[in-house]
Formats: sequence, C-alpha cells, structure tokens
Amino acid sequence: MRILPSIVLLWACISAAATVLPERDSKINIADFQPKDIISRDVCIIGGGASGTYAAIRLQDLGKSVVLLERKPKLGGHTETYTDPANGAMTETGLVAWYDSDLVKNFFERLNVPLTTTSFVSSGVTTLPVDFRTGKVVANVFSGNASEGLTNYVTQYQKYTYLEDGFNLTYPVPADLLLPFGDYIKKYNLAGAVPTLYIFANGIGEFLKQTTLYALKLVNLATVLNLEAGSFQTTLRHDNSALYESAASVLSSNVLLSSNVIAVDRSGECVKLLIATSEGLKCIIAKKILLSIPPLVENLGFLDLDATEKALFGQFSSAGYYVAILNNTGIPDNIEVRNFGADTPYSVPVLPGPYFIQPSGIPGLFSVKYASQTPMPDEVVKADIVSAVLKLRSAGSLNTTTPGFVFYSTHTPFELTVPIDAIEGGFYRNLYALQGLKNTFWTGAAWHAQDSSKLWAFTEKLLGEIIAGL
Ligand SMILES: Cc1cc2nc3c(=O)[nH]c(=O)nc-3n(C[C@H](O)[C@H](O)[C@H](O)COP(=O)(O)OP(=O)(O)OC[C@H]3O[C@@H](n4cnc5c(N)ncnc54)[C@H](O)[C@@H]3O)c2cc1C
Ligand SMILES: *[C@@H]1O[C@H](CO)[C@@H](O)[C@H](O)[C@H]1NC(C)=O
Ligand SMILES: *[C@@H]1O[C@H](CO)[C@@H](O)[C@H](O)[C@H]1NC(C)=O
Ligand SMILES: *[C@@H]1O[C@H](CO)[C@@H](O)[C@H](O)[C@H]1NC(C)=O
Ligand SMILES: *[C@@H]1O[C@H](CO)[C@@H](O)[C@H](O)[C@H]1NC(C)=O
Repeated sequence: MRILPSIVLLWACISAAATVLPERDSKINIADFQPKDIISRDVCIIGGGASGTYAAIRLQDLGKSVVLLERKPKLGGHTETYTDPANGAMTETGLVAWYDSDLVKNFFERLNVPLTTTSFVSSGVTTLPVDFRTGKVVANVFSGNASEGLTNYVTQYQKYTYLEDGFNLTYPVPADLLLPFGDYIKKYNLAGAVPTLYIFANGIGEFLKQTTLYALKLVNLATVLNLEAGSFQTTLRHDNSALYESAASVLSSNVLLSSNVIAVDRSGECVKLLIATSEGLKCIIAKKILLSIPPLVENLGFLDLDATEKALFGQFSSAGYYVAILNNTGIPDNIEVRNFGADTPYSVPVLPGPYFIQPSGIPGLFSVKYASQTPMPDEVVKADIVSAVLKLRSAGSLNTTTPGFVFYSTHTPFELTVPIDAIEGGFYRNLYALQGLKNTFWTGAAWHAQDSSKLWAFTEKLLGEIIAGL
C-alpha cells in the first residue's frame, strides 16, 4: 500500500520549460506546492551510487536538465572511504578499483580526480589462514596452478563475450551457464583459478553453489585481463569518495541528498514524484525517470509498480555483504587473517562469516568484510565479527582482544539473482523489455553486474535511448 498524503500528485504536466499544462484530475491541487517546491526536469534519477551519479553528470553535460535523488547524506553508494578523525588517514571500506578504459579515464578527468594503477598488494603483510568456524589455523590451504586455471577461465569466457555488456543472453540459455559454479569449475579445469576468482567474487553468496552465469558476470573478462596486465585503476590520492564529492559539487543544487521518494505517479505524460527532503516536501515533474537502486519490491514501495514489474522484481533475491573497521583487535598490524574452510573444496570458506580481517593501512585499525548467502540483521553480523576475533584467541591462533567498531556499513542487498528456471524462461529478456516503458529507465548492478566500470558503460549506452525520448 502506498501512502499518499492529501496534497499529492499533480496530474498536470509541467515541462522542463516550465509550461503549466491544464490539470486533468480534480483531486490534485497544484496550489499545495509553492513554485519553489516544484522541480521540473528532463530526467529525475533515483539513487546516487555509481550508476546514478554517472548518469546525472553525463546527462547534464549533454545539455539535459537533471535532478539526482539520494537517500543517504552523500553520493557514492558502495564507495565508502573511511577517514580517521584523529589524523585524516583514509582507507577504502567499499569499492577499491576500476578498469583501465577510456570511459573510466574520461569520467575521472571530467571530475578532475587523478588515477593511478593498483596491484592490490599491501607489502609487508603476512596472511594467517584460519577457519572462522573454529578460529584454528588451516594447515593445508588449497593452491593450484593459477595461470593454467585463469587461462582456462578466459577460454571459456570467450564463448560468452556478450556477458560483458549486460544480461543480453542467447536463448536457449547455454546449459553451462546454469550449472552450479562448483560443477563448472570441475568441468573446465578451473581449480587453479579459484583463489583468484574467489576474491573478485566477494559478495556473491555461496561461491560453489552460485549459478555460473552470476559468477561469470561478477568476475568478468575485463577483471582477469586487468589483473594480468596490472592495469586496475584507483585514485592517486587514495580517496575514492573524492569522485563522488566532485560529482556532487558539479551537480550542485541538482542533487538532493538525504531525500526520500514518497510516491511516484507514472500515469500521465510526465512522471510526478513526491519527495521528502531536508527542506520539506517537494514535487518533481520529470519527462523521464531513471532508477539506479536495487529493484527489489520492498525497495520500490514508493513506485506505482504494475503487475509485470512486480512479477519480475519479485523473483530477485540477494546475498548479504557487510564491512567494518575495528580497533583494539590485538592483531599485529602486519597480519591479515583470512577465512578458509579446513575441509571444503579449494578451501573455500563457509558462510556466513568474515572473508578476512586485515590491516586497514591505518595503524591499529583492521578492515573486515563479512558475507552471507541471504541478508542478516546488522546486530547479528556485528556479534559474529566480535566472536570471530575472539575465537582466534580461544583457538590459540592469535592473542586477540575484544574489538570496538569504529565503522560499520551494510552493503546489503548485494548481488541480486533469480533462480535458473527464471533465467531459462527469459527473465532477463523480460526485464530488459521494461526499459523505456512508462517513461522509466533502469540501471544499476541488477541490470548488469556489481562492477562500476561496467555499469558506467551500460549506463552510457542507455543515455541515447533516454535522450531520444526527450
Ligand atoms: C565492499 C565492496 C567492494 C567493491 N569493490 C568494487 C571495486 O573495487 N570495483 C568495482 O567496480 N565494484 C566494486 N564493488 C561493486 C559495486 O557494487 C559496484 O561497482 C557499484 O557500486 C554498483 O553501483 P550501483 O549504481 O548499482 O549501486 P550503488 O552504488 O549501491 O548505488 C545505489 C544508490 O542508491 C541509493 N538508494 C537505494 N535505495 C534508494 C531509495 N529508495 N531512494 C534513494 N536512494 C536510494 C543507495 O543509497 C546508493 O547510494 C564493490 C562492492 C562492495 C560492497
Ligand atoms: C601451470 O600450467 C601451465 C600450463 O598447463 C604449465 O606450463 C606450468 O608449468 C604449470 N605451472 C606449475 C607451477 O605447475
Ligand atoms: C543484444 O544482442 C543483440 C544481438 O547481438 C543486439 O542486436 C542487441 O542490440 C543487444 N541488446 C543489448 C541491450 O545490448
Ligand atoms: C599469547 O600470549 C601468551 C602469553 O604472553 C604467549 O605465551 C603465547 O605464545 C601467545 N600466543 C600467540 C598465538 O601469540
Ligand atoms: C575503539 O573504538 C571505540 C568506538 O569508536 C571507542 O569507544 C574505543 O574507545 C576505542 N578503543 C580503543 C582501545 O581505541
């Protein structure tokens, strides 16, 4: 049930040129909004993460009027840089790196944020392999022939290069793409690649049980090629959030932070949105809307979903992905504790649990990434992180102490997936068929991959369609 305040929903369509058209429904009272509270734009973008921010900047640069809505007090989504209040030192708790591509470089140049290459290696850090179910050190961690495994992975991937651009699947969907990833690894002798693939597939839920399609989407060809070439890009100043701060300043009053969409009406010629902002209720009238938020039904309560949209979005489920920065762990600053299964294939760790507890780069502070197959309450995650640290002590692995949380953030819902029968049945064909209907466009990870560089390219392609309709 949508809650519609009495004042809501103008059926009158005010164009970007601010022409007031006649009202078409008597229950709407345009007089309830003062002119200063009516925002007319070509495009309204909902969600100020990687895709939404990219779209807003590009559309504005292409001469379109935009407004970008973000419910958090800052842009960036999964990009979250932690700054130590004591000394200003920074560490990335979310997104780390982008691919070496013209599109990426152009976007950073546009926003005046310099890039540099990263190898992901922090020097002087030793890995302690531990099974976090017990806290015990794992003696024989799986290691295979990485170059052989990755070569085989790339060879297989060449069959599906269309996955690089989206979920533009071929039908019938190749049976290999629907295998549990563990079976696919066996079938194509990818074992040696598992330790590498695993790291880049963080957040995917149960790695070996996940449908191969989603593993390939998350660890796409560009990932392996950039890894092998050592060409991954990160910010020169080690402050990835600077990209989004710069975007916010370029967008200026066209970005509404800490704003919540209350209702959307797409029944008319233009889309009408009711927004709660820090400066009160606003009415947005847009020719097109672009949604770049996870399209789960419970996350779209504000939208006038139709039966088709509801039926499609209702099939998504998500994994859980959480991050924290801990102090007072008792772990030495040169030790990374990484989770491995003592008795699992390829030593893949058992979830839910931490992927690792590692030095953050800020002395005394440790970075944790924690994952689960399905979403979990934050309090349960936090308690399990503390318990993981303390298990190291009771198992005699490290003399740990009870840690404090200096930062915690949930990245859940992460990695939206649908069951294999839905994939076979044309789910993604039907999903993509929604683009442009009811003046509504869609982007974001569910439409392509949890991958900023790829999402920017996907969004860039969509801009043509959005602009064509203006
Ligand atoms: C720990 C971690 C590390 C990662 N590392 C990398 C990496 O190194 N490289 C890489 O390319 N990718 C990385 N990713 C993947 C990352 O998810 C994607 O690159 C990208 O951020 C996804 O972009 P998006 O636009 O789909 O979503 P997001 O960036 O999540 O943006 C969605 C935005 O919408 C907002 N929102 C949600 N609901 C609403 C609502 N109702 N109203 C208004 N706003 C709303 C959210 O607050 C958020 O800001 C990482 C992810 C995580 C969690
Ligand atoms: C890894 O596999 C490649 C190709 O099969 C082979 O040439 C190489 O010798 C192997 N490396 C090791 C360390 O076994
Ligand atoms: C999907 O692939 C077909 C055939 O290769 C192509 O014509 C179409 O443009 C692609 N669609 C998208 C959304 O990439
Ligand atoms: C923990 O501390 C005790 C007492 O100082 C010491 O004997 C032991 O070796 C330490 N254990 C580890 C794993 O560091
Ligand atoms: C750890 O951080 C917590 C939360 O910020 C703080 O209350 C606590 O004093 C810190 N402990 C240490 C030992 O620094």
